[in-house]
Amino acid sequence: MIHNELKDFPENFLWGASTSAYQVEGAWNEDGKGLSVMDVGNHPDDVTDFKVCSDHYHHYKEDIALMAEMGFKTYRFSIAWTRIIPEGTGDVNQKGIDFYNNLIDELLKHDIEPLVTMYHFDLPLALQKKGGWENRGTVDAFVNYAEVLFNEYGDRVKYWLTINEQNMMILHGNALGLLEGDPENVKKGLYQSNHHMLVAQSKVFDLCHQKVEDGKIGPAPNISTVYPASSKPEDILAANNYSAIRNWLYLDAAIFGRYNATAWSFMEEKGITPEIKEGDMEILKSGNPDFIAFNYYTSASVEGDFENQDKASNFNGDQQVVDNEAGLYRRYQNEYLEKTEFGWEIDPVGFRTTLREIYSRYNLPLIVTENGLGAYDKLEEEDTVNDDYRIKYLRKHIKQAQLAISDGVELFGFCPWSAIDLVSTHQGINKRYGFIYVNRDEFDLKDMRRIRKKSFYWYKDVIKSNGKKL
Ligand code: BG6
Repeated sequence: MIHNELKDFPENFLWGASTSAYQVEGAWNEDGKGLSVMDVGNHPDDVTDFKVCSDHYHHYKEDIALMAEMGFKTYRFSIAWTRIIPEGTGDVNQKGIDFYNNLIDELLKHDIEPLVTMYHFDLPLALQKKGGWENRGTVDAFVNYAEVLFNEYGDRVKYWLTINEQNMMILHGNALGLLEGDPENVKKGLYQSNHHMLVAQSKVFDLCHQKVEDGKIGPAPNISTVYPASSKPEDILAANNYSAIRNWLYLDAAIFGRYNATAWSFMEEKGITPEIKEGDMEILKSGNPDFIAFNYYTSASVEGDFENQDKASNFNGDQQVVDNEAGLYRRYQNEYLEKTEFGWEIDPVGFRTTLREIYSRYNLPLIVTENGLGAYDKLEEEDTVNDDYRIKYLRKHIKQAQLAISDGVELFGFCPWSAIDLVSTHQGINKRYGFIYVNRDEFDLKDMRRIRKKSFYWYKDVIKSNGKKL
């Protein structure tokens, strides 16, 4: 649709940016923090671990002052479960509670709305050792942890996100290094874990409404539109399959409180349906989110060459995201899209399509909680970082967001990844995403000083003009 006149970004639009605890905080074993699965994960030899990261734990005041200088209306960060309840269940760690109290107060001092993710990949190791999410007990552990958060911070935090990218944890379970055993059982375990997460999430939606006055809560999956490789009917069917398994399985359960039929039949076909306890489906129905948060980096394309199952895929993007399913879909390289230097396809128009698809399916307000470009930034003379490529990427996506708003989508915030440089999930600190450069390398911590990138000044103008000056 071509609009003669575009709608403006709404007043009070939540411009901001995101981080997650295990990627930005460091201080991995300080002040009583317990170990999480991310603290003990395997790292390739050439990338750093998550022990120090950007040392945000000790620099949060300085970092928040820089966010305020950019004009942030919100900051999306995650709370490390292991700072609050080091063993996942049991004793609460007062020093962990204090840290986030201070961080939240510092944000409010600068009129920045806290947007809190309760769990961003960093499950307490103690729970993982008891079977992780496959163990039904983790549902209660999560609900108990959520209750602590609502009691401690609910007077000041009004926007909550439950689980970051649950769908990616299930689709690429082994990418987070959590899984052992033979692949078929692994998959069954993953879909059981998925069911437990859905139940836990639904209970926490409910709990938030009971405990937090004016509290709003939503899920935070990674959602992207799925293109068929061609107009061949089998390719279209494959796109439909992939979208059901990648996107709608998660959102249908969170919003409609039911399993998506195509996704369920896929699980039946593979013999990996989860055990559903009596009362679980009622729980799924009873917890309702107020909005949908989602992360978007790129679209996905698939083909459905069902007769030639063994044919190699032409897909050569980030290998971690290959998740072909025999008989359902095979990932496909979209020849119309440019790629980042890390091989991720760039698709701003797909962003608009994704916003429209989610909104027309669920009719809930939307907020984007991740979108951005990872690159090898270069610190140049006089402390400058000329990240024009990042500006170009974000500008194009923000333009598409405005088009989606003009299409009628109710979008109330945009939080790119990431507020400040942090350690990428798999590719170290030199894959940078931030508006603020952190002066360290993979293994040399240097002086950790914060440096405003070119995108910092650009984003400041975007926010100041409420998206008019791109
Ligand atoms: C999202 C995650 O999947 O993508 C973030 O929520 C992650 O934690 C981001 O960092 C970018 O991915 P990567 O692999 O480049 O760090």
